[in-house]
Amino acid sequence: MVEVTSRTGPAGAVEIAPGVHWIGALDPALRTFDIILRTANGTTYNSFLVRGESGVAVVDTVKLEFAEDFFRRLESVADYSEIRVIVLNHLEPDHSGALPELMRRAPQARLYISTRATSMLKALLKPKEADRSFEYETVGTNDEVSLGNRTLRFLHTPFLHWPDTQCTYLVEDGILFSGDIFGCHYCDNRLFNDRVGDFRFSFDYYYGHIMRPFKAHVVEALKLIEPLRLTIVAPTHGPILRDRPRRYVTHYRELSTSSLTERIGNEDRSLVVFYMSAYGSTARMADAIRAGAEETAGIRVSLYDLEGGETGPFVDLIEEADALAFGSPTINGDAVKPVWDLLSSLAVVNLKGKLGAAFGSYGWSGEAVRMIEDRMRGLKMRVPVPGLRLKLIPTDDELVECCDFGRKLAAALVGGEQGRVIDFSELG
Ligand code: FEO
Repeated sequence: MVEVTSRTGPAGAVEIAPGVHWIGALDPALRTFDIILRTANGTTYNSFLVRGESGVAVVDTVKLEFAEDFFRRLESVADYSEIRVIVLNHLEPDHSGALPELMRRAPQARLYISTRATSMLKALLKPKEADRSFEYETVGTNDEVSLGNRTLRFLHTPFLHWPDTQCTYLVEDGILFSGDIFGCHYCDNRLFNDRVGDFRFSFDYYYGHIMRPFKAHVVEALKLIEPLRLTIVAPTHGPILRDRPRRYVTHYRELSTSSLTERIGNEDRSLVVFYMSAYGSTARMADAIRAGAEETAGIRVSLYDLEGGETGPFVDLIEEADALAFGSPTINGDAVKPVWDLLSSLAVVNLKGKLGAAFGSYGWSGEAVRMIEDRMRGLKMRVPVPGLRLKLIPTDDELVECCDFGRKLAAALVGGEQGRVIDFSELG
């Protein structure tokens, strides 16, 4: 008879190293996380228990709905009275859900959170003023808590994926409890990366949606993590990385720093022009804008007709561009859907400081250009040149206007006109 392990995992805790146990929960049925993330394989809420000579530490908890699983696993390896330290690496509810009850059951324990987590702790858990169970201590990089023969050392790694996030390093064992970093939404009751199914897609998908907008913070975190001796990387979601954990650190380094520009070199500033055109007018505007922009030395302009492509592959291009221009006709008082599709996919890209511009031909109302500009400003792009709208078919004079629009955009890009450009979104 074949024995099939429950999809929600073993009943008790699972030892990941001597005296270190996984006490988290499996959520195999989850299909959407944080509203936007697809989770075809469900997810896990990983939490851990570390036993030291002078007490027990619990690192992270689980989503409230899974508290029962968490407490059952915890009770299989420790008494609440032994818990001296509770660490929350990240206060998002999927990790802090069981915290209030844990602190009620282990009132002698001290809670350690990052300095930035204080306001979140209060906002998320709404502790009563008089409730001593919410006493806590804030910690930063290289602060340590001793469990006698074992040491927990903290690394401040903000924005991965909330401002409060930190990692906790179990020094003597070389185990990094990494929070969301190196995590993925991949539920498999075999728990360890050398035993679960192929989760590479989930790993990269998670990075792409959770970490990618904060690449600069990933690079800073890697500076703290890369020098560490690592036997296990234990994230809060997905497989526990015990087989060659450094591969995942290296992969993060590649994902966060490698770019097309770095690989093949590009000295020019890049302007990427995306457009859709119903009758060819917006396309002619795009051509003229390109011609105008290319008059400026050191600018490389790329043109893409959104009718011909999927938006997904454009995201890398956009991330590396210095300026973006979107051209859309106005149809039924709106920009066209492929333009919105592309703009809505940019939440995973840090666009702050990139230049943006909008243009388009219209029939009678022409709202698209202003709507695109508003969206770009909402994405923290700078819109240095007022949008260009032309009624129906552009005349020769209007095409000259388009060239001039391209010139101005190029000038703003190389810095020539920055002093004279006023972006009204930045005022007030
Ligand atoms: Fe897994 Fe950002 O919470």
